Amino acid sequence: MTAPRTIGVALLGLGNVGGGVVKLLEDNAAAIEARLGARLEVRAIAVRDPDKLDRVVAVDRALLTTDVDAAIRRPDVDIVCELMGGTTLAKDAVLAAIAAKRHVVTANKALLAEHWGEVFGAAERAGVDVYYEAAVCGGVPIIRVLREGLASDRVESIIGIVNGTSNYILSTMTESRRPFADILAEAQALGYAEADPTLDVGGGDAAHKLAILVNLCFGTTIDVAAIPKDGIDVVDPIDLAYAEKFGYVIKPLVIAREHGEPGTGPIEARVHPALVPSNWLLADVSGAKNAVYVQSYALGPSMYYGAGAGMLPTAMSVVSDMIEIARNMFARAGSQVARPRPTRVRPMVPVGDLRSPYYLRFGVHDQPGVLGQLMTILGAHAVSIAQVVQDGAPARRDSDTPVWVVVLTHSAREGDVRAALGEIDALPIVREPARVIRIAT
Ligand SMILES: NC(=O)c1ccc[n+]([C@@H]2O[C@H](COP(=O)([O-])OP(=O)(O)OC[C@H]3O[C@@H](n4cnc5c(N)ncnc54)[C@H](OP(=O)(O)O)[C@@H]3O)[C@@H](O)[C@H]2O)c1
Repeated sequence: MTAPRTIGVALLGLGNVGGGVVKLLEDNAAAIEARLGARLEVRAIAVRDPDKLDRVVAVDRALLTTDVDAAIRRPDVDIVCELMGGTTLAKDAVLAAIAAKRHVVTANKALLAEHWGEVFGAAERAGVDVYYEAAVCGGVPIIRVLREGLASDRVESIIGIVNGTSNYILSTMTESRRPFADILAEAQALGYAEADPTLDVGGGDAAHKLAILVNLCFGTTIDVAAIPKDGIDVVDPIDLAYAEKFGYVIKPLVIAREHGEPGTGPIEARVHPALVPSNWLLADVSGAKNAVYVQSYALGPSMYYGAGAGMLPTAMSVVSDMIEIARNMFARAGSQVARPRPTRVRPMVPVGDLRSPYYLRFGVHDQPGVLGQLMTILGAHAVSIAQVVQDGAPARRDSDTPVWVVVLTHSAREGDVRAALGEIDALPIVREPARVIRIAT
């Protein structure tokens, strides 16, 4: 009997995801070998601190090294798995692995969003594959869907919930009507949110993922820094209550669609919380779950849902990528699918020209004529009103508590809405700047 073939793997990182990869390779070893006809064998694991005791999995101490380059260059390593995170050392390591003609799997959305061209250009020249299923939506196989499942289709738009921390916080705020800061502190204590939550709650992480999705959907790289983004901290419990009254829930969304000529027109891409009609499938995506709703020419609407992070879901995507690479190696087919080639750089729709309906909450003095002043300014800027609610007077007339006027607009240009709000916020009747949340369409 001949010995089974083996594929050598170097893991760079043994944290949450790296630990999950080791565990999954052990737990599912027999099934993986049966499907692949080969073993995936970890030959080296680069870590920062080999003496760390509280690892999520026990590993043979002899596998651990702090020498990233040595792990990459081992002659018995075919696939390098970058699971360290960050964009400095991780970038050097990925480029070194590619230069050494190792195939690469990475879960690192920041690296790919910011250095897409460099990474895939190097991979193209070296003739190796770079797989990255875990970089967007963790365990949800959205990359494979867009790259392969919909390969014959044309994506028109995507709307997604791609940051589990933001979704967890907004879902918990919706259920409990407690403020953002309280829920964030609680999520941090439970380990659901990072000590520095800026990237998650500010929309930066979602923007990284959106840049990758845009590339796959519309065949273009976009400058991740140019994606307009609002964090979920603009949402107060009172906004969730008003949203519910109007038949909406508020979700942390990424949105991308193409404008104009299919295949060549400008791309709209944005990250912000938005009012979502409560009868949409996305309205039911709660807790830390992720989902991407895709509208495409031939299939029509389709939605992909599941765990967007976590040790085993993310490791599952990483190991599935390794299996795919191993299959390509056995077929001696450098997998062209893993080396996207954007045909042209497509312009982005300028922020001021983005259009959507808006939810606007004004905190004003309780005095006659207020509503008229607000409506006049909105109308002068071509912002047309769909619904208005003015809440009753505060408990005392001299109270500092503002009276809320909540306006839902028809679809309006972002530039016009911002110009109107600039004027309204400067009015003496205004007690606090308008709260602005877009409505998803
Ligand atoms: N966690 C998730 O659910 C999830 C989901 C999707 C994608 N991702 C992505 O997956 C990647 C890894 O995330 P993670 O949560 O597993 O991170 P993590 O728990 O912080 O683990 C990072 C690992 O990298 C190692 N490392 C850091 N700097 C190093 C260095 N200079 N040399 C060698 N090793 C080094 C660390 O070593 P020590 O253990 O010795 O400190 C640790 O094992 C990130 O790109 C992240 O964005 C994570």
